[in-house]
This record gives sequence, structure tokens and C-alpha cells, in this order.
Amino acid sequence: MPDPSDDLDPSATSTPSSALGEVPPEAWGGVQRGPLREGEWVRLTDSKGRRHNLELVAGKRFFSNRGHLEHDDLIGREEGFTVTSSAGGTYLVFRPLLAEFVVSMPRGAAVVYPKDAAQIVAMADVFPGATVVEAGVGSGALTCSLLRAVGPHGRVLSWERREEFADVARRNVRQFFGGDHPAWTLHLGDLAEGLVSSGERADRIVLDMLAPWECVPAVADALVPGGIVCAYVATTTQLSRVVETLRAHGGFTEPQPWESLVRDWHVEGLAVRPGHKMIGHTAFLVTARRMAPGERAPRKSRRPAPGAYGVDYSGPRPDWLPPQSAEEQLDG
Ligand SMILES: C[S@@+](CC[C@H](N)C(=O)[O-])C[C@H]1O[C@@H](n2cnc3c(N)ncnc32)[C@H](O)[C@@H]1O
Repeated sequence: MPDPSDDLDPSATSTPSSALGEVPPEAWGGVQRGPLREGEWVRLTDSKGRRHNLELVAGKRFFSNRGHLEHDDLIGREEGFTVTSSAGGTYLVFRPLLAEFVVSMPRGAAVVYPKDAAQIVAMADVFPGATVVEAGVGSGALTCSLLRAVGPHGRVLSWERREEFADVARRNVRQFFGGDHPAWTLHLGDLAEGLVSSGERADRIVLDMLAPWECVPAVADALVPGGIVCAYVATTTQLSRVVETLRAHGGFTEPQPWESLVRDWHVEGLAVRPGHKMIGHTAFLVTARRMAPGERAPRKSRRPAPGAYGVDYSGPRPDWLPPQSAEEQLDG
């Protein structure tokens, strides 16, 4: 979740790849092991839980309201230790996890939050070796989770139509993995146009954009039979439009919409209760599976709720939907 105390320098463009040397193929998880090295990012957490992210540079000092720390005192040590600053502040030192990195990295567009990225990887069944198409790339947060899930032998083909966001994403993904991930291809341009002209076939397609329904025909052409499309949308109107468009297309199984709510708990002696704060809403998710060529999805066995497709409804309509009765028209 976003944390105002996170402070990755938004102007940072350096990639630690040169400093870290050649990354072996089995290490494309964005996780470094062993002693902390110059060029790596570390996360300092103070006694009040405030976090600071910094890139280790030999000879440099980190300043806070509790004095300063020498980077040289961190370089060469195994992560998971505490250091004391010149004015007596104690800081816990770890490398940032992926879930921590994505909410503190520089942003061009809003990111997919870790709780939703986890849902996408699990419910869209993203597997090692898969070919995954993604759009838009935004800041590259979801890209990092997808790359991790497909691994170096899979492919993540990403489309982003805004060059400035693509640049931010490229820097973020490089920084997280310590270099150019071998499974990643970033295309500049519109997904619907780019995917069709690329001729690519995909196992999974993830859409995080304003109007995912506009991409449904291109997605249907590119997805392999049994493949999964997953859309991530912020509002109920978007959710309705994308579900109805997938349903009306006929070449997908019944779309499954849901959202996830995560609540922290406070556990301290006898004081065991839900946390006072939670993120109430991030976005809705919807998945559907591609039918084989020429196969149509089974019709819904239950009739739509009265008025569901009444006179006020103006969105896409599946061709099997019974015409509105006079009663429904009144209800609608
Ligand atoms: C909310 S951001 C994506 C955030 C990203 N998933 C992340 O986790 O960092 C939405 C992005 O989709 C891009 N976009 C919207 N429609 C698009 C399309 N048809 N093709 C490619 N990119 C698109 C926008 O430019 C924007 O950068």
C-alpha cells in the first residue's frame, strides 16, 4: 500500500546492473543474496516504522532527523541488521521486497497494488514459461510481478501508449531486476493495434487501462484456446462495460468479477483486534477464459434479474438475451 514515508528518489535513473555484475539466469527474481553491495537499494525502517529507501554509494552519507549514517557502514554486511545514526536513531536494514519496491518506486501512472498483483498472478494462473500480454505498462509495477511469475523462460509482451510512462516503467523494471529482464519486451503504442499487427499468441492477457472493452476483439484473436483474459478496472461503470462486452462477444466463458479487501490486525497481548485503517478500494478484477475456435460459451442458465437489461440499460447485449418483456421495460 502507498506510504507517504516512502521516499525513493524520483529522479533516480541509475540501474545497479553494472555495479552488480552479470546476473545469472536463475536469479531473475529481483532478489539479491549475500552481503550488501554498492549500487543496490536498501530500505531503512526507524523505530516509528518510517521507511527510507536509498541506493548504496561508497563514501556517501544518509541524513535524517536523527543525524547521519555512513553508507560504508552498510556495504559488505548481510541484510537484516540494525544501525545507529550519529544522533542515536536506530534503523533496521533490509533489501526491499517486491511489494515494498512497487509502492515506493517513481510513478508515471497509478500502480497495481501488491494485493491485486497477487490476485492477478494466482487467478489469471500466470505460470513459469507462459507468454503473457500486458497493457498498459504504466509504472511497471504489475510487469515486475508478471516477469517474476513467468521467469526467464517465459515472455511478457507489454504495450504502453505513452512514451513518458514507458520510460518510467523501463527504469523501474531494470532497477528491480538489476538489468534488462530477458523475458520482457516493451512496445510503444496501442495494445489493440499492436497486438493484431504483431501476430503474437498469448496464454494470458492482462488489461489495466481506462477502456479495456475496446481491446476485446484483439484479445480474442490473440488468446490461445483455454487462455485467460484478466481486466483490472477502478470503477463499477468500467466493470459493467468490460463484463458485458466479454459476455456479448460469445467466445469467452462467463466473466468472473471480484475485488479483494485486505485488513491488517493488531495483535498485542490481550489487545487483538482489526487495525483501524484499511485500504477500502483499489480496483475490481474480472477474468474469463477463451473458448476454442468456433465454440460458443454456454448461455447463462438463470434469467437475468428483472430490469437488469431494462430500458435504462444501453450497453452491449448478448445475442441470446430474450427480448425485453413489457413488464421488464416498466421495471427497467
Ligand atoms: C493505470 S496505468 C497501468 C499501471 C500498471 N499496470 C502498473 O502496475 O504500474 C494505465 C496505463 O495504460 C495505458 N493505456 C491506456 N490504454 C492503452 C492502450 N489501449 N494500449 C496501451 N496502453 C494503454 C495508459 O497510458 C497508462 O499508462
